[in-house]
Amino acid sequence: VASFLKSIFGRGESGEEGEHQQEPGAQAPAGGDPQPWFYQPNRNQQDRFPRFKSGAAGTRTGRHEDEEFARARAKLREAFTPSQPVTNKRLFAGRLQVLVQLIEAIEDRLAHVVVFGERGIGKTSLLHILADLARESDYLTLRATCGAGAKFDVMFRNLLQEVPLVYHRSVSPTDEGSEIGANIANLLPDYAFDARELSDLLQGVTSCRVLIILDEYDRIESEAFRVNMAELIKNLSDCAAPVQIVIAGVSSNLHELIGYIPSIRRNVVGLPLPKLSHEEVEEIINLGERASSLQFAPEVVPLIERIAEGSPYLVRLACYHSSLIALESGRMNVLPTDFRDGLNHMVRESAARLSHEALQRSQRLNWVRDEACLDAVAHLAAMPSGWFSILDISEQVGPAECDNLEAFIRKELIPAGLMLEEEGPRGSRYRFVDEGLQSYLWISLARNRMAGGAG
Ligand SMILES: Nc1ncnc2c1ncn2[C@@H]1O[C@H](COP(=O)(O)OP(=O)(O)O)[C@@H](O)[C@H]1O
Ligand SMILES: [Mg+2]
Repeated sequence: VASFLKSIFGRGESGEEGEHQQEPGAQAPAGGDPQPWFYQPNRNQQDRFPRFKSGAAGTRTGRHEDEEFARARAKLREAFTPSQPVTNKRLFAGRLQVLVQLIEAIEDRLAHVVVFGERGIGKTSLLHILADLARESDYLTLRATCGAGAKFDVMFRNLLQEVPLVYHRSVSPTDEGSEIGANIANLLPDYAFDARELSDLLQGVTSCRVLIILDEYDRIESEAFRVNMAELIKNLSDCAAPVQIVIAGVSSNLHELIGYIPSIRRNVVGLPLPKLSHEEVEEIINLGERASSLQFAPEVVPLIERIAEGSPYLVRLACYHSSLIALESGRMNVLPTDFRDGLNHMVRESAARLSHEALQRSQRLNWVRDEACLDAVAHLAAMPSGWFSILDISEQVGPAECDNLEAFIRKELIPAGLMLEEEGPRGSRYRFVDEGLQSYLWISLARNRMAGGAG
């Protein structure tokens, strides 16, 4: 069993490889690992090269089983691709409580809403479903994804092109201006307007309710944008305009995202998006099973749940990798060994996203001795901004362990060139030098734990 596990996880009994045991990513692509599954020799020996598994246009002609395989693979991709938000209710699991709160805030309290939570927790997916539900109830729903360089006037000018001019008080239905295609963006000044001018215009919206959904709000760098936004929310509330705003962003709290005017706080409902419950994890797996026709063995579900720790992104990532491996072995049922092999792929994939230096430096860590500290740091760095403070450390590990962990960061991680320290508003704060280190550490440690626990 030990050698079996070792071959799967690339990790022997502790101590076997000396103090500085090979760290988990060390046997990544170029190392001595067995060839990854996608390089396995083809059934047909003459065909030396890996191939695209499904024809881009679905036109590839081949053996019947190839086509079936390609179909299964395409379905699998749809069911579990972790890099895409869910835009389809059929694949959207759980979150009903949050949706109820969102709708209640919008409909009954006429509030503006800020949805916040860590990366991968499901904000974008939730907003897609919210937009669908709002459209079904005849809200004029406008959506935008913010970029780092987003400009307030440009963004709203674009959004408001979707609001027909007939919904503005200044235009009567018989006006010439109300012809098809005319929209209220035409009523905006042609210079870079600000929140006051925009809310003056939106006050005139009539005979409809407008919901403006802004995703990835944390990416906005412009201070002016944020100030304008806070002012817009305040003005819209003050004049009871039929326009409401939903903002989503990576943050651990409401005020980090939108905190400029204290008085807007009562006009804004903050909704943290929590980790998935056990039932929600199961539901993602069940919905994916239905969509892909694959079956997860009951023992696999708790394994997935354990590494995901409530993140829908990690649930789908683990499901995706383990089911691909099952499929490659010609099976439609996913077994614990598929999960373990899948986890190895996840480690390699996250290693491949690191810079060369970051990978090398992380391989010099003592993964076995410092497992608990590394694990705590991986969790801390999952904070939305990547930064965490002494207070966060104390909250995460308790005051007794706090000094210990801080010493570990200062004596090990910072000198190793893996973390940075900065004077923040609340004392020192820390983050990884490479954003990818957090998920690399997280996934590698999970794999090690499973290797240990499985024996
Ligand atoms: N309610 C859900 N049901 C099923 N999958 C979900 C759900 N929420 C998120 N996911 C999956 O988790 C991953 C991250 O979701 P996403 O909405 O992009 O998160 P965020 O915007 O918070 O970074 C995606 O693969 C998405 O498909
Ligand atoms: Mg998102």
